[in-house]
Amino acid sequence: MLTSRRVVLRSLAASAATGLAVPATPRRFSGVIGFDPDRSTMGESLIRLDHNENPYGPSRKVLDAIQGAMESVNRYPVAGYGELRERIAHLHGVKPQQILLGCGSTDVLRMAAFAFLAGGKQLIQASPTFEAIESYAQRSGAEVVSVRLAPGFAHDLERMSARTSAAPALVYICNPNNPTASLNPREDLEAFIGKLPVSAYVVIDEAYHHYAGQSGMYASFVDRPVDNQRVIVTRTFSAVYGLAALRLGYAVASPDVVRAMGRFAGEDNINGIVMQAALAALDDIDAVNDFVRQNADDRQEFFNQAMARAMKPIDSHANFVMMNTYHPAEDVIEHFRKNGVLIGRSFPAMNTYIRVSLGRPEEMRRFWQAWDALPYPKHTMQH
Ligand SMILES: Cc1ncc(COP(=O)(O)O)c(C=O)c1O
Repeated sequence: MLTSRRVVLRSLAASAATGLAVPATPRRFSGVIGFDPDRSTMGESLIRLDHNENPYGPSRKVLDAIQGAMESVNRYPVAGYGELRERIAHLHGVKPQQILLGCGSTDVLRMAAFAFLAGGKQLIQASPTFEAIESYAQRSGAEVVSVRLAPGFAHDLERMSARTSAAPALVYICNPNNPTASLNPREDLEAFIGKLPVSAYVVIDEAYHHYAGQSGMYASFVDRPVDNQRVIVTRTFSAVYGLAALRLGYAVASPDVVRAMGRFAGEDNINGIVMQAALAALDDIDAVNDFVRQNADDRQEFFNQAMARAMKPIDSHANFVMMNTYHPAEDVIEHFRKNGVLIGRSFPAMNTYIRVSLGRPEEMRRFWQAWDALPYPKHTMQH
């Protein structure tokens, strides 16, 4: 039994090593990328532009760390949680007691909902936005108040403020927002938070933080905190770090808030492989910079292609783009699927818009080929 498990592990390690052995230096990278450029499409007929993942990640160093961690998967990762927590705290210049790890940031959002929304409290959120917290709010018996995005696609902070009563509530701000990739300027958010009643907690979901960094409008609430003990910032390892499958996210908040949310954390909810992967990912700053640069190039190219077709996507501050097709999104999504390209799901509040995660250049060429094959007269798709 033991022997056969070792054999399986060895053969897993060998196949991972085979994947790594293929030279992988896409033109604009400095050799840090671990993926074979063709791996994202290898053996799969569908192009995945549907979940806002990093199509280039994780980095080679992170893949090496994952392979190393496989040697000790028979052991509980006893020291790992504390080590990772300290590393993230050090990164952000806060105390370890201010960091709460989760099995993906979705898990951290669940803990926030369970800690602060139970017993009929209010969740105030934008519409459309990332839906995870809404589903957890419903499970906690909360009332969900959804406020349509403002005409420029940012959160309508004035209307959200007006809907926040003096009763205890949780406000969810996704910045940049999924699915629109839009930003609310930092100063507007600060003014909004300053006006919230003292009974309100606010979650600022910075899942796409690294991709927004280039905008002068943006400053993270971890890097530049405000003096408010009820602000909870969430981050994920699923986006720029390229670790979506391994499930790791975290919250940065006051020790009291971390304690309150931590009551809803599962025992040993972080696995030993992702702990090592995350430590390596945080150290591999060159890789993060390369991923961000590559995404900026891919995003620019998307806008060039869209504009060449007289389309005007919503300004994007993330690794995905949303645009109006002026046709039912469900039909457009189905057309892409039939043409071998998966794009984001439809969003009822914006039901003629599609959300496209940026893929590798060769994948995006397939996207535009499928776009050009849409069976709609082109003039009905333009502004
Ligand atoms: C805004 C936002 N927050 C959180 C998540 C979930 O991240 P995780 O994979 O860490 O659960 C996503 C994933 O799409 C997202 O778009």
